[in-house]
Amino acid sequence: MKIAVLSDIHGNLEALQTVLGIIHNLHLDEVICLGDNIGYGPDSQAVMDLLTKYEIASVLGNHEMAVKNRASLEWFNPMAQKALKITLSQLSGPAVAKIGQLPFSLVKYGLRFVHGVPPANVFLYLFQVPEKKLIQKLDRLKEQICFVGHTHDLGIVSWDGTCLTRDKLVPGICQLDEKKKYIINAGSVGQPRDGTPEAKFLVYDTQTRQLAVRAVGYSFAETGRKIIAAGIPKMYAEKLAVGADTVKKG
Ligand SMILES: [Fe+2]
Repeated sequence: MKIAVLSDIHGNLEALQTVLGIIHNLHLDEVICLGDNIGYGPDSQAVMDLLTKYEIASVLGNHEMAVKNRASLEWFNPMAQKALKITLSQLSGPAVAKIGQLPFSLVKYGLRFVHGVPPANVFLYLFQVPEKKLIQKLDRLKEQICFVGHTHDLGIVSWDGTCLTRDKLVPGICQLDEKKKYIINAGSVGQPRDGTPEAKFLVYDTQTRQLAVRAVGYSFAETGRKIIAAGIPKMYAEKLAVGADTVKKG
């Protein structure tokens, strides 16, 4: 099976359309989203419509949690709250209902998919988990690989039963070892914070165990203009051009 893994689209229609165009030509078996499909960007409803149209499965992100349970808004910083309130006003009834049904985690093809940290944490960041705790989590994990998002930054944690390593992921091909367990961060399609503006996504081949890290250019200037026109804080438009963050939560 060849699976595309997308995370943190964040209402960025231009980035999603570009990524889906590339995926279409790769003739993959499935596309799975790791959550935060909405928020920050100007086109959360259009992103939801596109994911629904192509029957793309997704887990719940922290931004979807703010839709599902409004009390979760308190978790976000004031700028993110302002952006999310605009997102909430844009979403249709059916989109809100669909978000309310998203699972906290998904297991498919022997792989786990979750927004934050396995087994099913939506809010916790991978970098917040101390090494000892991370080893416990990996030992308990039934699946060999768990894909996560949430930090908007590519990365890979590997565990061979003795040694835990945390590494950056860069665009290209990465050969995974059948004897190791992994937590792989897919970065972000629509609000990257890895220092480059390109939309990031992964393609994993379960047979060859090859992981392809993809980075594709798209019209972030257009998305930025739409963010400002929608009244969403300008900083979320400015971040698109540099692929970097100055605010930790989100
Ligand atoms: Fe996010």
